[in-house]
Amino acid sequence: MNKILVTGGCGYIGSHTIVDLIENGYEVISVDNNSRSKDSILKGVEKITGKKVKNYKVDLCIYDDVYAIFQENPGINGIIHFAAFKSVGESVEKPLMYFGNNLDSLINILKCVDEFAIPSFVFSSSCTVYGNPDQVPVTEETPPKTAESPYGATKQMGEEIVREAVKRSKKKAVSLRYFNPVGAHPSAYIGELPLGRPSNLVPAITQTAIGKLTSMQVYGNDYPTRDGSCIRDYIHVCDIAHAHTLALDHMLKNQSNDLYELFNLGSGNGFSVLEVIREFEEVTGVKLNYQISARRPGDVISIYANNDKAKKVLGWSPVFTLKEMMRTAWDWELRLKNDENLYTNQHAGLN
Ligand code: WQD
Repeated sequence: MNKILVTGGCGYIGSHTIVDLIENGYEVISVDNNSRSKDSILKGVEKITGKKVKNYKVDLCIYDDVYAIFQENPGINGIIHFAAFKSVGESVEKPLMYFGNNLDSLINILKCVDEFAIPSFVFSSSCTVYGNPDQVPVTEETPPKTAESPYGATKQMGEEIVREAVKRSKKKAVSLRYFNPVGAHPSAYIGELPLGRPSNLVPAITQTAIGKLTSMQVYGNDYPTRDGSCIRDYIHVCDIAHAHTLALDHMLKNQSNDLYELFNLGSGNGFSVLEVIREFEEVTGVKLNYQISARRPGDVISIYANNDKAKKVLGWSPVFTLKEMMRTAWDWELRLKNDENLYTNQHAGLN
């Protein structure tokens, strides 16, 4: 059985990917220091898959601790590296913390790829590498522009570090550029657990709708778009998760001569902020309390993916609609409300 190490396995995309890996016959180990997540989310993974997943609560910036995990777990033949700080706004406030954490952890993992000859590596990248594109949809060949934030810069640098590292190690690697991951697993046993006030659109919508937030802002309706609000490519987190499984299959089956490949993971559709809000209201019947406010610094006007390469090379095709993204996000918010203690670390198990 293929054994995969998932860093950031207790995170939003990490936990959904672990579910998909297990459902596709992979054995999984998680590494997550829980600085931005809760290891109790793995209870939800167990509820869905019936499998207990071990999490190593290790800071990936400490090389000796990372090395020890590989020593203790021989036979790892794939790594998916999610672990990173990912708040665009926070990265502007604390750039050195972002460069230190996101790049030191990546370099330590890549050193272990070398030391332990790990044959396949997936890097969690982002559409933020494109900056404000001159034209949409963007393809993997669209030249990246100056990153709009230190967070985006860590993803641009991360891709180059991976590219150079595999040239030497002759191991395979892919970088997956996520667009806007939203929604939750249809079981509502796992989902996004934003710490503090959410900066992303969909958790802001669901927390406002359920009353955790009294209202939310739409950051600008004076953009040159069809309704004045920004356009993004929203993609269900389960579709993103399955792409990781397909990327590992692709590398482990040696389906390509290229050592390093890049893939866009987006639905290929662009929706505006106001269109997402309208879809949410329609799906849930909840009227959302929002105000139009000033633009948010760093926002790009419009970006969505050309996802032909992932479809053609990985055999990937996103299946969840925007309606289902809103429905599953809302079902998850309802579960969190109905079980206040859900996923607090002392939470004993799901009822
Ligand atoms: C989307 C739109 C906001 C909140 C995200 C991730 C980033 C990367 C790319 C993976 C924007 C508007 C938001 C609110 C609003 N993903 N908005 N009111 O900025 O596209 O970046 O996807 O790596 O990590 O952060 O996503 O959800 O923050 O914003 O009007 O309360 O919603 O202005 O137009 P973004 P977002």
